[in-house]
Amino acid sequence: MKWIYSVSLAVSLAMQPAFADDLFGPHPMTEQARDAFVNQLLSKMTLDEKIGQMRLISVGPDTPKSAVRDMIQHGQVGAIFNTVTRQDIRAMQDQVMQLSRLKIPLFFAYDVVHGQRTIFPIPLGLAASWDLDAIAEVGRVSAYEAADDGLNMTWAPMVDVSREPRWGRGSEGFGEDTFLSAQMGSSMVKAMQGKSAADRFSIMTSVKHFAAYGAVEGGRDYNTVDMSPQRLFQDYLPPYKASLDAGSGGVMVALNSLNGTPATADSWLLKDILRGDWKFKGITISDHGAIKELIKHGVASDPQDAVRIAMKSGIDMSMSDEYYSKYLPGLVKSGAVSMAEVDDAARHVLNVKYDMGLFNDPYSHLGPKESDPQDTNAESRLHRAEARDVARKSIVLLKNWRETLPLKKDATIALVGPLADSQRDIMGSWSAAGVAKQSIPLLQGMRNAMAGKGTVLYAKGANISDNKGIQDFLNLYEQAVSVDKRSPQELIDEAVAQAKKADVVVAAVGEAQGMAHEASSRSDLVIPPSQQKLLAALKATGKPLVIVLMNGRPLTVVNEDKQADAMLETWFSGTEGGNAIADVLFGDYNPSGKLPVSFPRSVGQIPIYYNHLPTGRPYNFAKPNKYTSHYYDAVNGPLYPFGYGLSYTTFTVSPVKMSSRTMPRNGSVEASVTVTNSGKRDGATVVQLYLNDPVASISRPVQELRGFQRIMLKAGESQTVKFKIDVDALKFWNQKMQHIAEPGKINVMIGLDSVRTQDAQFDYL
Ligand code: NOJ
Repeated sequence: MKWIYSVSLAVSLAMQPAFADDLFGPHPMTEQARDAFVNQLLSKMTLDEKIGQMRLISVGPDTPKSAVRDMIQHGQVGAIFNTVTRQDIRAMQDQVMQLSRLKIPLFFAYDVVHGQRTIFPIPLGLAASWDLDAIAEVGRVSAYEAADDGLNMTWAPMVDVSREPRWGRGSEGFGEDTFLSAQMGSSMVKAMQGKSAADRFSIMTSVKHFAAYGAVEGGRDYNTVDMSPQRLFQDYLPPYKASLDAGSGGVMVALNSLNGTPATADSWLLKDILRGDWKFKGITISDHGAIKELIKHGVASDPQDAVRIAMKSGIDMSMSDEYYSKYLPGLVKSGAVSMAEVDDAARHVLNVKYDMGLFNDPYSHLGPKESDPQDTNAESRLHRAEARDVARKSIVLLKNWRETLPLKKDATIALVGPLADSQRDIMGSWSAAGVAKQSIPLLQGMRNAMAGKGTVLYAKGANISDNKGIQDFLNLYEQAVSVDKRSPQELIDEAVAQAKKADVVVAAVGEAQGMAHEASSRSDLVIPPSQQKLLAALKATGKPLVIVLMNGRPLTVVNEDKQADAMLETWFSGTEGGNAIADVLFGDYNPSGKLPVSFPRSVGQIPIYYNHLPTGRPYNFAKPNKYTSHYYDAVNGPLYPFGYGLSYTTFTVSPVKMSSRTMPRNGSVEASVTVTNSGKRDGATVVQLYLNDPVASISRPVQELRGFQRIMLKAGESQTVKFKIDVDALKFWNQKMQHIAEPGKINVMIGLDSVRTQDAQFDYL
């Protein structure tokens, strides 16, 4: 971690205009001091000023800089998002300090989801590392860079569990599993917030999207969510709860409705659960325009009604709609919304500003003007080594027939595919302030690794898609995808000609980053036909074929799995993606990633997830029976299961040893295995613990992840891996919605993926 400069509080305060004497600290960072301070401040505020604090706006066509300046002057805005340079942020904070009556500092937020200037793999890829230290590294670097740009808050982590690969936003989350998502989310929060969100290089997190956004029907973005309370509490809520327990200061509220009630209008969710049961003290923020959308959801009759409902439901801050400022004054006047309700919301905003240290120093993330970077995008501001390290860990080896990989550096390699030389796509969606021309595409990464020893013959081979509609969709807001005007056949011919000259072919195929994004739902999960045709032509050359997938969701790659001699899942791997993939291709790094999602064989299998419930008529592959739960035209299982991923070495797992056959009430037992690196290379793997409660008062999943450990073993080395299982690992929400562990047998499964496991049992007494 680099420290570009450090400024003492005294120096930075000396640079600023004079403040209202009693407003600015140093204030003790305790809850008691904060409450006293905020109450005193509230008592000085007019209704309009309080409402101003509840507004979060973005500079854009509807609110140009001049309008924002005006709003700031009149105390009509509490925070800004999407402004990301120190110069711009400083200008706005200066306006508050110079023009507004109370000089309440703004906070500045942004979608720092997987990096700020240095872009790390998309969160789905981060989850594939199963490495909490790597997550912490991403969190620390992202917070450092964001804070160094003057930001105070991020709209992250996104911990929406999703079993819906059609939904494009699965790319922003940590996959299909509750336990893994909870661990990843809480690690990210702790790393980003550090010891205190007020620290110079920490930022406050805002966990999203509360709640259950990942379960939108049909995978269509913004669609309805409907689920049983058991499933909600068991599978979907824990990652939000874990992130809040880790201290997240903010919660972003989901756009979807849950069981008929839009989250923005859900006082049960935002008050009873969040503030009541979970004791959340931070701030709730509506998502973009969500208050307005209550009318279209059909729960509010008009704008006033929407504002009244949002306020009654517990939305503290409104993102990007002017409804609070337009309609709240009238609603308070008429008594439809009470002053106490406005005070509560404004209090939460002021509380987080206090926690961010803004009342100690509104410029704490800015420092003196002289320290502003001359070049915001300077190379020296990036953390390339960290990005490469994490990206390598996120890559999953899906297939490696006859040790096709690793490749030799002195070989002649044909690198083809529309993603082979794309600097934009490799960064993925929500790439914050990352700059495409600073990212390393695969072509560059391979050339770097080969260092002139061998040859890379490059051809694009195909466009991402030949479908004009899809091309236009991807290029709607930026020229994100370049379309080669040559005919598909010409592109393929060129690629085949290169392949014929090569020892081996590497094909970088999959999705453009814009295909796995917000508002990027798909009804099909195939590699687009233009690229399928390319792969077929490459296969026909008879050369060994290595497929490098880049994508933001599980794809249906049954055919590609057959065609490929080796296949890597590289997600969108970020600024250093090309170098990281090359490290794996050439064996400078032995792949260790494991899938955080099941890969379906076809869209028809969705939803497909490993921790499903048993049925009364399970299908038995060995003894097929018509009247059992299965498809007659497809198998039930995924192409690649949850937790799966190969290595260039091999590992064996011993039978499970239990510390005891019984676990006393509220006690614990220990399950252990010895893992041996039985191959010839050093390598890391992830040991996974799954539990199953075979007889309970309600059906329980066939298996559920309850622990994992990433270990590094030298060739020939063994290590014993121990998992402590305690009562929390056995608890579930029963039919009466009590969170309990029931006595009885518990099955224990430990393995290197969710399918091939060593099994044991114990009795919970
Ligand atoms: C809408 C998205 O749903 C949310 O995730 C994001 O944080 C906001 N826009 C702000 O960009």
